[in-house]
Amino acid sequence: MNQRPVLTTTAGAPVPDNQNSASAGPRGPLLLQDYQLIEKLAHQNRERIPERVVHAKGSGAYGTFTVTHDISKYTKASIFSAIGKKTDLLLRFSTVAGERGAADAERDVRGFSVKFYTDEGNWDLVGNNTPVFFIRDPMKFPDFIRTQKRHPRTNMRSPTAMWDFWSLSPESLHQVTILFSDRGLPQGYRFLNGYGSHTFSFWNDAGERYWVKFHFKSMQGHKHWTNEEANQIIANDRESAQRDLYDSIEKGDFPRWRVCVQIMPELDAEKTSYNPFDLTKVWPHAEYPLHEVGVMELNRNAEHYFAEIEQSSFSPSNIVPGIGFSPDKVLQARLFAYADAHRYRVGTHYEALPVNRPRSQVNVYHADGAMRFDAPKGTDAYYEPNSFNGPVEAPSAKEPPLRIHGDADRYNHRDGNDDYTQPGNLFRMFDEGQRQRFFDNIAGAMQGVPAFIIERQLEHFRKADPAWEAGVRAALQHIETSAASAPTTAADVAEAAE
Ligand code: HEM
Repeated sequence: MNQRPVLTTTAGAPVPDNQNSASAGPRGPLLLQDYQLIEKLAHQNRERIPERVVHAKGSGAYGTFTVTHDISKYTKASIFSAIGKKTDLLLRFSTVAGERGAADAERDVRGFSVKFYTDEGNWDLVGNNTPVFFIRDPMKFPDFIRTQKRHPRTNMRSPTAMWDFWSLSPESLHQVTILFSDRGLPQGYRFLNGYGSHTFSFWNDAGERYWVKFHFKSMQGHKHWTNEEANQIIANDRESAQRDLYDSIEKGDFPRWRVCVQIMPELDAEKTSYNPFDLTKVWPHAEYPLHEVGVMELNRNAEHYFAEIEQSSFSPSNIVPGIGFSPDKVLQARLFAYADAHRYRVGTHYEALPVNRPRSQVNVYHADGAMRFDAPKGTDAYYEPNSFNGPVEAPSAKEPPLRIHGDADRYNHRDGNDDYTQPGNLFRMFDEGQRQRFFDNIAGAMQGVPAFIIERQLEHFRKADPAWEAGVRAALQHIETSAASAPTTAADVAEAAE
């Protein structure tokens, strides 16, 4: 017992009594001078930070990325510089729509955010378990998210809002297809693929640019719940995915992903039949095959969930030399949105927190602001340029010029876009069982939605594949017939039981 450290106030003074507040007489009232009690209550009042506006419910773990194949001819990124090279990383998984207390086993897209602590700074790949997304113009992101969150009056989620938005936004069809397929309800975070989703770029020492898409293939395989199974899971365990990930790492069963890339030479982007920067499209693997690059393993749980996972801050704008962006409009908007969210959610110096801090040196001139706890060194060099040996630019990190052309305008992103072929192709890959579950999932999610909205969505299904429309119509009809023949009141039930 003598070895145990002494409890102190935050100012370091020993606390003589942590059980009894100071009162005037044994029955009270309390004394305002009991600052130890006041400190305790005041700290508790400040224990929460805003949850993420999306992807609020999540789980994370640390791990390692190991290079297995040489891609240094495409990128000068030091993380890929040699076979066998290892880089530490943090991965945070999430669901999108639910709040921090949401159940894990919900039908939703899963977030897949990786922070690679490379020796040239942090590279964050903030992706999903789907290679595409619901929108292709970021102007629609806040509207889309509103349809996934609670209705302002009922405070419940609204299938009407969801299908209204989707049926008015045909570019969502590809992602909707994945969401209502088996992949929309994975059994846990170990059993899903990750995708960078956007097109990014690689650039090499010669200044050549390649377009690239990142894929993380689960080496645990894919496992999914049906809606009915998920309901059972949620009834017993709201943290099913957190538990599965945490337990498997604790017992040394480390989950792994094969890391692959699709690579497109820069000028091919002008020849493809689809816009390779459109986030609602995939690049056909027959044209742009997967190249294996390395293996990612998760092998260490966080010690403190709040400090390390809740405060972790991932941003697509965190790139390193050899990796660049692309013209993808949604990516471009995300380059602003995340660091802005972090400054609000975590605080100005969020990147100085241990979980976010790069493992390489950080030399910046922005200095002051709330929570600056590490005084910058070299106090005479606090502006740039200076004559006092302050940090200077690194011209070798300059990216090659990005080829762009066109007049500045608000271009209609729906003009001439084929929103049906790729979702239709995906649908045609489903076997009979997958199709039936897909139809049932969609029909179930459409309950209570006005008929005119359902009809508008069915028309999109028809354009992708007539069998898709027919299947959903039949599933809707089946639910309607079952409801009509089902006992509805207590008296009906009693009667039916006789
Ligand atoms: C989280 C904005 C599209 C994946 C977030 C957050 C914001 C945001 C503000 C919360 C960040 C935080 O508080 O730390 C946007 C905007 C988008 C967009 C404005 C489009 C215009 C996407 C897309 C993907 C994606 C296309 C995937 C391809 C994620 C993930 C997280 C997230 C995985 C959770 C990050 C974490 O684990 O901390 N998004 N998002 N988002 N977003 Fe997006």
